[in-house]
Amino acid sequence: MDFLPISINIKNKKIVIIGGGNVATQKVFGLYNFTKNITVVAPQISDVIKNIGVEIIEAEYTKSHINDAFLVYACTNNSLVNKQVADDAEVKGILFNRTDDATESSFISPAIVQNSTHVVAVNSKNKNVKSTVDLRNKLNAFLTDLDVNQVENQINKGKVYLVGFGPGNPDLLTIKGDKLCQQADVIFYDDLLDSTALDKYNGEKVYVGKRRGNHHKCQDEINEILYQAAKQEKMVVRLKGGDPLIFGRGSEEKVFLEERSIDVTIIPGITSAIAAAAYGGIPLTHRGISSTVAFGTAHGKTSFKILEADTSVYYMGAKNVIDIAQKYLDSGYVANYPVGIVYNASMPDQEVIKTTIGELITGKFDIKSPIISIFGNTVNFQEIINQHKSECCNN
Ligand SMILES: C[S@@+](CC[C@H](N)C(=O)[O-])C[C@H]1O[C@@H](n2cnc3c(N)ncnc32)[C@H](O)[C@@H]1O
Repeated sequence: MDFLPISINIKNKKIVIIGGGNVATQKVFGLYNFTKNITVVAPQISDVIKNIGVEIIEAEYTKSHINDAFLVYACTNNSLVNKQVADDAEVKGILFNRTDDATESSFISPAIVQNSTHVVAVNSKNKNVKSTVDLRNKLNAFLTDLDVNQVENQINKGKVYLVGFGPGNPDLLTIKGDKLCQQADVIFYDDLLDSTALDKYNGEKVYVGKRRGNHHKCQDEINEILYQAAKQEKMVVRLKGGDPLIFGRGSEEKVFLEERSIDVTIIPGITSAIAAAAYGGIPLTHRGISSTVAFGTAHGKTSFKILEADTSVYYMGAKNVIDIAQKYLDSGYVANYPVGIVYNASMPDQEVIKTTIGELITGKFDIKSPIISIFGNTVNFQEIINQHKSECCNN
C-alpha cells in the first residue's frame, strides 16, 4: 500500500465532484461536513444533491471544470469518463480520486467516524469494503461511548459507586461496572488479584487495600478518603473484590457516606463463592442432593459455626479450614463428609481440592489464601449421579 494517511486542511479550497448519481451523492454528504465549497458536474444531477446547497453545473464533463480545483472526485458510472478526469487532473497536478478504481487514484477517501473530540479515518489495506464498514461501525460505537462517558461523568460528579469487581478475573466484571470505571475520575481499589486490569481506565487509581505494602488503611480511613473525593466533586468508583455486600463492608461505606449526604449506588459483582462453584465444578444446589446454601466466614476461630444448610460455603480463613473440618467431626458428621476447596477461583493459577473432612484434618493439603471452602454432598454430585445411574441399570 503506497497511500499515506494524512489530514489535509481544505479551508477555502474547492472540491469538484464529477458525477451526479448515488456515489456522488454519498461523496457530497461526506464532504459537506468539512466544507461547503463543493462543485458537482454532471449532465444529470440527483435532486438530493441539488437540495444540499452545493454549486451545480449540469453539463458533460470537460477539463475546464477542474481548473481551479484542489481535490477532484471522479464518481461517474462510466470508467472512460473517470479515467479522463484522472488523466486531466494528473496533468494539471491536482489530487484526484477515482471511486471506481482506488488504485488508479492519487488519493483515497477513508471511511470517517467522529465524535465531539476525535475524527478517525479507516482505510482497508486489502480493499475489503465489508471489513472497513465493520470496523467503522465498531469505532463509531466506541466514539459514541466516549461521548456518553463524558456526559455521564459530569452527571455523576460527587457520587460514589461501590462496584463489585468479581473474583479477580477481569472478564467477570459486569458491563455496568466496566462503564463506571471508564467514566470515573478516581478508582479506589483494594486487594483485587490483578490490578493491572485497571490500566485501561483513565481515572486516577488509588490502592486502599489492607494487604500490600506497609501502609494499612483501616476502614475509617477508607471511608474518609471516599468522602473527601466525593466532596471534591469527583466521580468516585470504589472497586471491591467479589460483591460489595458479601464480606465486603459495602454497607458500612454506604451508611458512612449517606450520613454525609453523599449519593451512593451499589453495583453487584460475582461473589467468589459463586465463582468457586462454577470454576471448581461444585454446584451449590443440586436436585435431590442439596436444596439450601449458607454463606459464612471462616475468618476468626471463634466466629465460624456449622451452618444450617445442605451446602455450607466459607469465605476467608484458609488457616482455619482444618479447625472447621474438626468441628464438623466433633458435631457427628462422618469422616467421609465431602469438602471442596477452591483457591484463586477464575484465575489462571486456580487450584481445586475435593476431599473429605477426615482427610482434611490430617493436614496433608497445602492450603493457600484466598480460598472458598464448600462443605456438603454436592462436592461429590457427579459420583452420586453415577451411582444412581448404575443402581437404576442394575434394577
Ligand atoms: C474480605 S472477603 C471479600 C469477599 C468478596 N466481597 C466476595 O464477594 O467474594 C475475601 C475472601 O473472599 C474469598 N475470595 C475472594 N476472591 C477469591 C477467589 N478468586 N478465589 C477464592 N476465594 C476468593 C476468600 O475467601 C477471601 O479470603
